[in-house]
Amino acid sequence: MNAPSRTNRPSLESFWMPFTANRQFKAAPRMFVAAEGMHYTSDDGRQVIDGTAGLWCVNAGHGRRQIVEAVERQLSTLDFAPTFQLGHPIAFDFAERLAAIAPAGIDRVFFTGSGSESVDTALKIAIAYQRAIGQGTRTRVIGRERGYHGVGFGGISVGGLVNNRRVFPLLPGADHIRHTHDLAKNAFVKGQPEHGADLADDLERLVQLHGAETIAAVIVEPVAGSTGVLVPPKGYLERLRDIATRHGILLIFDEVITGFGRLGAPFATDFFGVKPDLFTTAKGLTNGTIPMGAVFASRKVHDGLMTGPESAIELFHGYTYSGHPVACAAGIATLDVYADEGLLTRAASIQAYWDEAIHGLKGTKNVIDIRTIGLIAGIELESRPGAVGARAYDVFVDCFERGLLIRVTGDIIALSPPLIAETSHIDAMVSILSDALARAN
Ligand SMILES: Cc1ncc(COP(=O)(O)O)c(C=O)c1O
Repeated sequence: MNAPSRTNRPSLESFWMPFTANRQFKAAPRMFVAAEGMHYTSDDGRQVIDGTAGLWCVNAGHGRRQIVEAVERQLSTLDFAPTFQLGHPIAFDFAERLAAIAPAGIDRVFFTGSGSESVDTALKIAIAYQRAIGQGTRTRVIGRERGYHGVGFGGISVGGLVNNRRVFPLLPGADHIRHTHDLAKNAFVKGQPEHGADLADDLERLVQLHGAETIAAVIVEPVAGSTGVLVPPKGYLERLRDIATRHGILLIFDEVITGFGRLGAPFATDFFGVKPDLFTTAKGLTNGTIPMGAVFASRKVHDGLMTGPESAIELFHGYTYSGHPVACAAGIATLDVYADEGLLTRAASIQAYWDEAIHGLKGTKNVIDIRTIGLIAGIELESRPGAVGARAYDVFVDCFERGLLIRVTGDIIALSPPLIAETSHIDAMVSILSDALARAN
């Protein structure tokens, strides 16, 4: 095939790209110049199916006019106003709208600028809350191996991905429970695996090791995404909730990926029926259009901090862009689109088709596991000896060239298309991926 010539390719020198092999990329770049609905357009004019909702964020698909227009209107009305000791109505309106879809009692909303900021905010709120209720020795935060909680110092401290941690100093006292990935017992499962609820008991082990009175909070992704789609075993989250409650430890769900319909319910807490004390969001909050995050706090935690003289600032924390008016406008319009099109629950209705289509890849060369939940799939490949990640990277490049965007972590392929995906998109995705897997050596 003769590739059409690329237009307007800029110099690539100055942009230091995040989480990218910069030199490799710049030698053979992959560029998108437009997006609409389920597709990107590459700079050589090809249509590429968005198999990853951007980076798990474009839940309503691309180019949504309602969001574009709301942003335009807001920019020309009130482009920016601070939220420190001042306010603007749209931030309060957006928080009310979010509270209306939040699980009962977890409806106080602290705005941030990203998922990483949401995580650091939640950890700080947890520690501040413990102190406010007279538990000031509880400063330790617990994460989980293979967890991803963004890139702030708090987030990497509770995170469990070695490459993100090894060269940086970390929060003192942070520790980790074991991850739940067990291929020997749980390979090729649709939905939650049977085995591994007892892994939650690892929190009990850390309580015995450190003392409950030193632990402020435990944070987990209800479904771990960036680390390669790890689905919680049946009963695991319930057990973690019980242990945390028993020891006065706050439970934080990191819902930066699972929030806003990814599992077929508004939030993972709704889907699994387990209530955290705090949960973090970002990404789908504004359909990826304007950077923003939000931490949802339970009344217990929020009210626990609303103490002291009324003239005193209750929490010494916040960002210039907390409640940015343009992000709020994008967020409200996003919630409207989600509501109009039933997107917060739509994944539940195509789940069965998704499961069948993706699990149809079982038996394909090098595929050692497939896991699906909501509109998420993880496809794990056997690694080439001495070259972890190389095989999945080849599949990623091949898919991109044939018209499908996938995401890879090590040798795990993750799929998380926009929640507007039709069965025809799912078929096309599986077909391109299947061919790429067959070609990969
Ligand atoms: C679970 C989770 N937490 C936090 C983050 C960080 O979000 P951001 O990249 O917006 O800082 C991510 C990003 O993928 C995530 O998946």
